[in-house]
Amino acid sequence: MCGIVGYVGHRPALDVVIGGLRRMEYRGYDSAGVAVLDGAGALNVERKAGRLANLETQLDTVGRGAFAGTAGMGHTRWATHGAPVDRNSHPHRDASQRVAVVHNGIIENFAALRAELEADNVEMASDTDSETAAHLISRAYTEGDTKGDFPASVAAVCRRLEGAFTLVVTIADQPDTIVAARRSSPLVVGVGEGEHFVASDVAAFIEHTREAVELGQDQLVVITRGGYEVTDFHGDAAQAKPFTVDWDLSAAEKGGHEYFMLKEIDEQPEALANTLRGHFDGGRIILDEQRISDQDLRDVDKVFVVACGSAYHSGLVAKYAIEHWCRLPVEVELASEFRYRDPVLDRATLVVAVSQSGETADTLEAVRHAREQKARVLAVCNTNGAQIPRESDAVLYTHAGPEIGVASTKAFLAQIAANYLVGLALAQARGTKYPDEVAREFAELEAMPAAVQKVLSTVDQVRDLGRRIADSKAVLFLGRHVGFPVALEGALKLKELAYMHAEGFAAGELKHGPIALIEEGLPVVVVMPSPKGRAVLHSKLVSNISEIQARGARTIVIAEEGDETVRPFADELIEIPAVPTLLQPLVSTVPLQVLAAEIARTRGYDVDKPRNLAKSVTVE
Ligand code: F6R
Repeated sequence: MCGIVGYVGHRPALDVVIGGLRRMEYRGYDSAGVAVLDGAGALNVERKAGRLANLETQLDTVGRGAFAGTAGMGHTRWATHGAPVDRNSHPHRDASQRVAVVHNGIIENFAALRAELEADNVEMASDTDSETAAHLISRAYTEGDTKGDFPASVAAVCRRLEGAFTLVVTIADQPDTIVAARRSSPLVVGVGEGEHFVASDVAAFIEHTREAVELGQDQLVVITRGGYEVTDFHGDAAQAKPFTVDWDLSAAEKGGHEYFMLKEIDEQPEALANTLRGHFDGGRIILDEQRISDQDLRDVDKVFVVACGSAYHSGLVAKYAIEHWCRLPVEVELASEFRYRDPVLDRATLVVAVSQSGETADTLEAVRHAREQKARVLAVCNTNGAQIPRESDAVLYTHAGPEIGVASTKAFLAQIAANYLVGLALAQARGTKYPDEVAREFAELEAMPAAVQKVLSTVDQVRDLGRRIADSKAVLFLGRHVGFPVALEGALKLKELAYMHAEGFAAGELKHGPIALIEEGLPVVVVMPSPKGRAVLHSKLVSNISEIQARGARTIVIAEEGDETVRPFADELIEIPAVPTLLQPLVSTVPLQVLAAEIARTRGYDVDKPRNLAKSVTVE
């Protein structure tokens, strides 16, 4: 969840590090800090609670002169241990102030390590787990077998740490070297000319180089101006995976939009097109990586989709398609619950793990649990080479591009499309669909970027509505069939962005309880199915709307163009293009994203960085 960057090269390190932190602030924004080595033996640290802007103001106040070196590191935090205050901000230093550490993840055995250090009269300056690493590395560097050996000192401490971590370490004595290590948290190396970077995300250095190296589990890297060297935690040479980043800086910048999220909403047609591209070739659906044989896919007798948040909602949409196309039972599970309830898994189970970041701890643990039980795992992921795809038997990448806004938008739509491809791949392998039917479904998917573009051209009405209902206390969302997960997603967006009470319901459940919430003026958003494609459900929902309207609710109805039956019951009618039923979430979600963003803006909130959240949740 935290963002980490380290740099050794020929440019002013402070500029590189602050620039990198700016692009990674989406990972956490409780506090920020930097450390710069000045080459003359000084290690200068500055850190500040709150957004990166606070740190920059602080640097202006203290003067940037002390930060003139060409090696340094920085951190942007999402608090786990210890409140988001200055003293808990990273970098953390040892007692001698010669060693500095930035950390992402959770050191699970930190209480025991802290007790050990305190018994040794080490005084702790923060409440964090991370600080223990600084003291332990300092001790390893000044005494015992690893004395004076910087990488070996870091490796020795990593061997003692339990949990998930990315660590980046500087030592004042070694101003031209940075050591970084990872276990279950992301770390990439950027390879430039006479300069090297380490970061949680390539976005931190994409401005300087697109050549990157993905570190594996329990690997350590030493970077200098001239090169980088990867080893395991025992100092033995290790292989890491080089790759070239296939998007450029402009993809990670706002491009004239007020917020990344608004840009990302607009990018959805392209994200969908990119996700579909190349996946239907020679009359067949093709995944990106497939280490599961067609015979194994034929043997599958049950599918679980495991995911969190919006990705979970994409799984709920997929259930309707996969069950329909493949005649296979599909269970959609919150990844955080999955392994704790002893799910029935075996070789014939396919677990589809959906994750934008590919590093969500709950989903990763669900994947590990599934593999221990011998189930096959297929990852749907937006981040090349992330941990979840690395640990899976097959991978389908969504090509939504970098998603910086914390609330998922384009990645969510891309997940829905990718999940459909998974369903079609299964149907094709199992013969539950003829090749021409698969081709027809794919062609319908290919028409969706244009349909989404059409929705985007009409959203001014939604913005206006958002401004008018921004002072409501709560909003309810109703849907049926694939409209139900859309209702859940609409409610989630509103909660996280506008901090409003919002609930999504299956409309059929209304009479079983939620109708008691209806009161005069309460906005209720209803996602209507197609009057042609789902006539029976459509008429039932019309009855539901009339029931809530009769009780004074303000009905906001999202319905197919030309759906005249619903018009009399809609206080606000938002029209979307007619598309095949299963694909409707790709168009009906878009107005809900825009609505939530506009309500949040009207209420004066930062749409990209909702309070208490971070983009990727690497702790359970
Ligand atoms: C909501 C949102 C989150 C994520 C969830 C899973 O807008 O972004 O609910 O969908 O944290 O994240 P990934 O997909 O990275 O596993």
